[in-house]
Amino acid sequence: MLLMETARDLKHPAFIPDPHTVYLRLRTEEPIHWNPSLRGWVITRYSDLSSILKNPSFSVAALQPFLGHVGIDSRRKTERVSAVLADWMVLNDPPQHGRLRKALAKYFLPQEIAGLRPMILSRVEELINGFRGRNQVDFIQAFAFPLPARVISEPFGVSPERVEDLGEWSEDLKDFVALARSSPDKYDRAKKAVEDMAAFFRETLRDHSRNPRDDFTGRLLEAGAGPEGLSEDEMVAKLVLLLFAGHETRASLLANGLSWLLRCPASMEKLRLNPSLIPGAVEEMLQYVGPAQPVTRIAAEKMRLADANVRQGDRVFLALNSAARDSSVFPEPNSFKIGRNSNRHMAFGLGIHFCLGAPLARLEAQIAFDRLLSRLSRIQLETPQPDWHDELVTRSMERLFISYDMAM
Ligand code: HEM
Repeated sequence: MLLMETARDLKHPAFIPDPHTVYLRLRTEEPIHWNPSLRGWVITRYSDLSSILKNPSFSVAALQPFLGHVGIDSRRKTERVSAVLADWMVLNDPPQHGRLRKALAKYFLPQEIAGLRPMILSRVEELINGFRGRNQVDFIQAFAFPLPARVISEPFGVSPERVEDLGEWSEDLKDFVALARSSPDKYDRAKKAVEDMAAFFRETLRDHSRNPRDDFTGRLLEAGAGPEGLSEDEMVAKLVLLLFAGHETRASLLANGLSWLLRCPASMEKLRLNPSLIPGAVEEMLQYVGPAQPVTRIAAEKMRLADANVRQGDRVFLALNSAARDSSVFPEPNSFKIGRNSNRHMAFGLGIHFCLGAPLARLEAQIAFDRLLSRLSRIQLETPQPDWHDELVTRSMERLFISYDMAM
């Protein structure tokens, strides 16, 4: 019995280093599984995830049910955080979701994001320049963590002196949103981060009203004043969401991706010789070691899912990284293969909540890997085992030491 529970327990310490043993067992034996420690259903097969993500009977309004599970003290601390999160499109169902998303969607189309290429390239080159004079760095501190904030700061109209704050705020909010287990002060840190972020973005919006600029914040203000009519609170919530949703995930894509590439030296050499393979390799990184783990839905009505009786209000955890290893969809799912012909991964979700920032995340990672492989040689992993953060929602590492040679 104990073995059975351990083998399926997503809160067991053995789960973090190796979630795939548990997921394989669940996909095979109990693909729709009631998990007592999470107090929710865990869904692991690709086909089930795909149909639930497209099914309007599953709501994203997960904030209230989540707060129902935290103590009264913590709930008090998170009131301000909840007020901002309540305006996040990712936590709103139609029709509110459509209104919140529409005001932004056109600025995130691949053709719009392509215009950021020269800026992204400069930020990537600057960070790689910082590798000079050393032959070893913690890739997360030196590159993966600072890059997303530097890239997003320009379109947001954030001055260079405040760029570091963006990364720190998103780090402080992460433990709360990502259900980190070993972070006792996560509610206090999230509260402070959200208050600081909201004050900062309010001031940024006001500054843009006084001195109009054609950057992302300027366009958001324009959209807010248009027929979609966004309040200042909604605009602030959007800026917080975009900063947050796009920070940790992109940092993790870069770090997880490099870490797996270094475990497959032949693939890395292939990419170095043929950079046109890089976009496909980034898709494989998203699938194989993608940053997003489960996304949550709430059953809006009672229903039967296969043999399971799902009650109205039940939480449903959709394990995206389990679907990525489903052999009925991906041949040889446990091999990291940079040249898969068609990669239908769900690392960016599926359906109406499909990641708005996917074109930015893809372009940034493609440029980053292209420049890293072209400027660094003999890259070696100096952290043999990935040192994963103890959290359920994202897959991210604490440190990733690498050594390398670099021509001046
Ligand atoms: C590798 C990087 C990224 C990954 C793996 C990722 C993953 C995801 C996933 C799985 C979802 C769906 C959530 C759900 O269905 O509940 C999502 C939604 C979202 N993402 Fe991303 N994301 C990334 C980068 C970004 C970036 C760069 C931004 C913006 C700057 C962003 C903004 C959003 C937004 C706004 C949503 C909500 C969309 C909606 O509800 O309509 N993400 N992301």
